[in-house]
Amino acid sequence: MALVTSKDLLQQAQAEGFAVGAFNANNMECVKAVVEAAEEERAPVILQVSQGAIRYAGLEMATAMVKTMAAQASVPVVLHLDHGTSYEQNVQCLHAGFTSLMFDGSARPLEENIAVSAKICEMAHVVGIPVEAELGKIPLIEDFTNWDEVTEIRKRSHSEQVQWLRERAGAKVEELMADPAQAKSFVESTGVDSLAAAVGSIHGMWDDIWPLRRDRIEELRKATDRPLVCHGSSGVIRTRKEAEEKGIELRPEECTLEEAVKIGICKVNVATAISMVFLKGAKEAWDKKPNEKDLRKILLPGQQAAKELVRSYIRLFGASGKAGEGVSKIEKSEVKHAE
Ligand code: G3H
Ligand code: ZN
Repeated sequence: MALVTSKDLLQQAQAEGFAVGAFNANNMECVKAVVEAAEEERAPVILQVSQGAIRYAGLEMATAMVKTMAAQASVPVVLHLDHGTSYEQNVQCLHAGFTSLMFDGSARPLEENIAVSAKICEMAHVVGIPVEAELGKIPLIEDFTNWDEVTEIRKRSHSEQVQWLRERAGAKVEELMADPAQAKSFVESTGVDSLAAAVGSIHGMWDDIWPLRRDRIEELRKATDRPLVCHGSSGVIRTRKEAEEKGIELRPEECTLEEAVKIGICKVNVATAISMVFLKGAKEAWDKKPNEKDLRKILLPGQQAAKELVRSYIRLFGASGKAGEGVSKIEKSEVKHAE
């Protein structure tokens, strides 16, 4: 199947009350994990190329991996630029064949964010490519702590971890959330197709324990008809049941990822959780066979673990079965391929 744009997909998601999962194209194994899971779930999916992936694999390689998998896939696949840094980078990605763009102007003054987002939309819309833009700021966990401290904090119970994070980061995360009144004028002045609005999440969390702000999502939903995108979703508590099991109490104005989809989130970005489960799967395989010399036999269990996590997110978002029927040309990854 040829690549599709995110525009129709997100509109379908909005109309039918599900969300499209957006996962990062960090290496071949991750790309395969995502597309195989999406095919088995009959779900449309977004593969996004982050700034880190561009530095790691190079734009050409990252793009080629997604295009190759999409051509063999029997489900719709979007090639999306994640956190695009400039007008020039968006032009470059449009030229490279991306079917969905993003500009993250959250570190710039609002006027500049509006001006650059509008310019990218004007350019991309000429050829029918949609653009996502960020409003408010979704911070990084590293803005509040470092990984050594996280290693210590993780030894505490889940509820204590959340309490610690509320004290350390809660006020700042709230201050950075997107303003619904600004969202309305931002969308009107820029013409963006979807809005990466800060709704309480934090990028790059170590576990899914943190709530989203239900009240802000609802206000944004009323302020604009554009599909809302949730970034930093690895750290978001997935369901009420999981919150109870982890002993995490949500405040009345908060919600889980599952609930956020029900009230209007149409695209959910998950990166860190996939990376961590991949590493865990590979490490377990290597711990079991420390003398293994074939890297594929170590990476493949990581890929399978990533695939199962992608599948569980697709199900959580209600996207299973939303791609219709199709015939795949993808050869499924099995251990025998590593011979
Ligand atoms: O743009 C990418 C995402 O927002 C991923 O965030 O690594 O916290 O899941 P995450
Ligand atoms: Zn993000």
